[in-house]
Amino acid sequence: MTQVKATNIHFHEGNITRDERWKALGTKGVTMWFTGLSACGKSTIACALEQALCNQGVACYRLDGDNVRFGLNKNLGFSAEDREENIRRIGEVSKLFADAGIVTLSSFISPYSKDRDAARKLHEEANLPFIEVFVDTPIEICEERDPKGLYKKARAGEIKGFTGIDDPYEAPTNAELVIKAGEHDLEACVQMCLKSLADNGLIEVAD
Ligand code: ADX
Repeated sequence: MTQVKATNIHFHEGNITRDERWKALGTKGVTMWFTGLSACGKSTIACALEQALCNQGVACYRLDGDNVRFGLNKNLGFSAEDREENIRRIGEVSKLFADAGIVTLSSFISPYSKDRDAARKLHEEANLPFIEVFVDTPIEICEERDPKGLYKKARAGEIKGFTGIDDPYEAPTNAELVIKAGEHDLEACVQMCLKSLADNGLIEVAD
């Protein structure tokens, strides 16, 4: 649980509404939260989706587990406590991006339900859309892909606490979208995400 240390602070409202900001940008903000095992395909789908959205002129931005750990979250490891803080910070950052009017694609293993639910709650409380996408790829396929050689290292005992090997992954039970990435090609996975955004009135339906 995060200790609140900030005292004597006051929220400063701006002079424009969210709607005015979004209108100026010509888009609508949302967080699309991709969760799943390492190498399940979440970053690959987010990259291809970002490209498809960009081609449609939709303002979007990708927040990626590995990438964010090079900067903002470089002081966090992979204990349950550090993963919680990782997701807490990214939940907050995603909320800011969505509030700005960006289609925010956040891909993090985010193995604990309570941490994902906390990110969802942050958005709900701010009246911002949150779409949880469970990239449901069996661990056998993730391990076979092993693009970074991390499963191999984990099996050899060179990485301790690796998700799916000797650390838990709590599969979502209430995700808005479940993508069986092992059974569909990349284009189909991207189309599912675009459809979900369009069904929620967040992007125009592509021709
Ligand atoms: S999370 O669990 O805190 O959500 P995050 O998505 O930021 O994880 O980072 C996961 C990435 O870190 C993996 O794709 C992998 O490249 C790398 N990684 C390094 N150590 C571990 C580990 N012990 N468990 C899972 N991923 C790890």
